[in-house]
Amino acid sequence: MTPPLRTGRVAPPPHPHRGATALSALTTLTAGLATAGARRRRPVTEVDRTVAVTVGAVTRPCRDVAVLDLVGDGDGDLPAWRPGAHVDVELPSGLLRQYSLCGDPADRRRYRIAVRAVPGGSGSAQVHALTPGTRLRLHGPRNAFPLATAPAYLFVAGGIGITPIAPMVRDAHAAGVEWRLVHTGRDLASMPLSDELAALAPDRVLRRPDDAGGPPSAGALLAGADPEAAVYCCGPPPMIEALRAALPAGQRFHSERFSPPPIRDGRPFTVAIAGGPEIAVPADRTALDAVREVRPDVPYSCRQGFCGTCHVRVLEGTTVADPAGPGRTALCVGRAAGERIVVDLGR
Ligand code: FES
Repeated sequence: MTPPLRTGRVAPPPHPHRGATALSALTTLTAGLATAGARRRRPVTEVDRTVAVTVGAVTRPCRDVAVLDLVGDGDGDLPAWRPGAHVDVELPSGLLRQYSLCGDPADRRRYRIAVRAVPGGSGSAQVHALTPGTRLRLHGPRNAFPLATAPAYLFVAGGIGITPIAPMVRDAHAAGVEWRLVHTGRDLASMPLSDELAALAPDRVLRRPDDAGGPPSAGALLAGADPEAAVYCCGPPPMIEALRAALPAGQRFHSERFSPPPIRDGRPFTVAIAGGPEIAVPADRTALDAVREVRPDVPYSCRQGFCGTCHVRVLEGTTVADPAGPGRTALCVGRAAGERIVVDLGR
């Protein structure tokens, strides 16, 4: 799986401090489907905590994709989650990678992730090398891509972007809400999970491999879509941007993409760490990347500003493009308004 770094949320949650605070806000957004015919569900209380798991079954349902069950250690339940949630997985090397949960939220004994092997991807290579019995630590789950109330859904997934979408489809189906799924990919052999979803309702699932007609246009992805449907898309940035541009004004659109947002019109600046060194941030790099070269212990998770993990206090200077709120900066996306900021890594 391409490491599914997250972005494009329609309603970024407030997250003035650490991830735990953000999670509380997100839980409210994932309170469930309240449409006619939808079942009422108790709200999930998501907790940002460290969870010990052991790798259980490992399957390879299609080319380059490993599906892993991560079984909770001990007798207790794993923390609850809702469709769209992800966990941060601490890999054996110490790398931290985010993966969407694609299993059944009702199964509180295990989480399931599906990971595509990315050429040159150190995280995905480590995941593919995991074997049953390996113990891991997770953080989360967190939800930056919550399924909100809607009268109908159109789900669009590009390749391994099916992972957060799959539990959404099952949820909508179980709740009796109208839904359709379009899944694209290079070929059917590289498109996991949607064959299982097609078993729920074959006429609602369109599996659209590029080798049978080329990459679909946004118009083709949206063909026949209910104008009232909320559109949920996870895939590569070009797919998301094309859909966003093609949708009629007012139609609800929620997306999650695989990579951090590009740096647009970046200018170089300096981050001075209080009591520490001054670090030059080039125009085409984030402060987080530059700081971590000197301080690799600085934590991060989403790399897109919303999780709160990299938020720190700004002691001098101001920032732009910054979701962290007054007096703070998200090192992963915030940039100095001037030439220099001073930050407190003590947070
Ligand atoms: S806010 Fe999540 S890593 Fe920066």
